[in-house]
Amino acid sequence: MSRPIILGIVGDSAAGKTTLTRGIAQVLGPENVTIICTDDYHKYDRKQRAEIGITALHPDCNHLDIMQQHLSLLRTGQPILKPVYSHTTGTFEAPVYVKPNKFVIVEGLLGYSTRAARDCYDVKVYLAPPESIRANWKVKRDTQKRGYTEEQVLAELEKREPDSEQFIRPQRQWSDIVVSFYPPSDDINNTNGHLNVRLVLRPTIPHPDFTKILDFCDNTVSAIRLGLDRDMGKPVDVLEVDGHATLEQVNKLEHLICSDMPYLKNVCNREVNPEIGKVAGTTGETIQSYPLAITQLLTTYHILKATQIYQ
Ligand code: G6P
Repeated sequence: MSRPIILGIVGDSAAGKTTLTRGIAQVLGPENVTIICTDDYHKYDRKQRAEIGITALHPDCNHLDIMQQHLSLLRTGQPILKPVYSHTTGTFEAPVYVKPNKFVIVEGLLGYSTRAARDCYDVKVYLAPPESIRANWKVKRDTQKRGYTEEQVLAELEKREPDSEQFIRPQRQWSDIVVSFYPPSDDINNTNGHLNVRLVLRPTIPHPDFTKILDFCDNTVSAIRLGLDRDMGKPVDVLEVDGHATLEQVNKLEHLICSDMPYLKNVCNREVNPEIGKVAGTTGETIQSYPLAITQLLTTYHILKATQIYQ
């Protein structure tokens, strides 16, 4: 059976969804990817939300039923007429005709909030940076790109917190991979832009055999670590990659992920795909982030695994 492969990237506002989505699309080849942002399914525009006193994070503020219908249509390769919400004006624009490419990335706030929606994804990622980092990212994005003042963003974060707690964060439990970028303990304010990543790997999908890491890493002091933990009460594997890992260490890890899927080597080869792992730094320049590169590679691994089954 041939159908599009659907990847979900869910997380709170300014958790890094768009950065990760763009990075993965870059690895897969932008021409092969359709990106859907579920903000387009907001039920009310900015003015109406303020009048009613509801936040964009509340399920009642979104046409989740239509989002769900559209996800099932995309999954079977059918086109949709997608609504469009403009973050610039806070209003809706004319809907657009969208036909799914080989891969569909669905990013947004409430993508895993209903059973029927969850059933549409092949791979589910949840982004969970520490709240202090997310607040910094939100202030930076919303002041630079969406015309808000810092005070407005901080007030909005506070107003939204109850909905974040009740509706956004619980979705973590449905994900196959939880991604948390976080600053190293000796650079808590993240001044040099190099974040570590903690990847929670749930046994809901088969991951590469990371135990081989133990052959080339001293598991307690190395920049790449594998461990066991509990997440939302369930046992999980945890892979951590530090921002200061060396290229040699990262190459070994990449080799391990690619070992049972040679095609992935080409897709994720830095010479073929120099953009892999590139992220916008704090001052606008791009920096090479190995933790981001590994996250992109692992997600791509799972997408291609699904492709082997369904395409
Ligand atoms: C947050 C979310 C967006 C959402 C928006 C609505 O910023 O990250 O995804 O669409 O809230 O609020 P707005 O600022 O557009 O009124």
